[in-house]
Amino acid sequence: MKDFAASHPIDTRMAMPPTPPMSDDHLIRYLLGALPADEVERLDERTMVDDELAARLRLVEDDLVDSYAAGTLTGEQLQRFEAFYLVSPGRRGKAAFAKCGICHQVGPGAKTLVGPALNGIVGRKAASVADYASMYSAGMKKLGADGWVWTEENIDKWIADPKAMIPDSPMALAFPGVPDAGERADIIAYLKTQK
Ligand code: HEC
Repeated sequence: MKDFAASHPIDTRMAMPPTPPMSDDHLIRYLLGALPADEVERLDERTMVDDELAARLRLVEDDLVDSYAAGTLTGEQLQRFEAFYLVSPGRRGKAAFAKCGICHQVGPGAKTLVGPALNGIVGRKAASVADYASMYSAGMKKLGADGWVWTEENIDKWIADPKAMIPDSPMALAFPGVPDAGERADIIAYLKTQK
């Protein structure tokens, strides 16, 4: 009895009847708006109470966005991704953030990559991520010392053209920036949701 409970933590914790296991394909169809409305509603509710399912959905979503960014979605999936998934600004921002994601992580358990983790970056002082303290460039440290805060406007300015702000920052040297203002706004909207 005890072993069963240990290996089935969801069913024992949830105040809902047990539901059959859910395939990745089903979750992808959920993200792409390809499920019937009653099933969407059921999944909306389930992901709110079921942390494990919510975590799995995040992984499936990350893979989906990576596939989109890599250009490997085809046919109906690509069509649905553009017509359904990308319609919400937060999701558009998540997809656009894939180009930052080479160097920056966000979300639960975000770690330092080439650049600092960006959870809570909106409204934060420049060069103040503790894990990254010893890695900031001189130019970024000076911004922080001068009291520069990553407001939405300042992030917009930075990612539009990093070189214009700190020519020798490693980010400026490796990343040309995001020329499209709408795409920058989507990225910032997404960053605001990552605390
Ligand atoms: C090629 C790697 C790379 C890419 C791509 C990249 N960054 Fe960076 N980013 C860095 C590095 C490295 C730093 C630290 C720069 C420094 O110290 O001068 C940084 C710093 C930052 C900071 C300041 C962090 C702080 O703690 O003050 C922000 C904000 C930021 N990046 C946002 C973004 C966003 C948003 C994108 C995508 C549009 C992006 N970056 C793309 C490498 C990258």
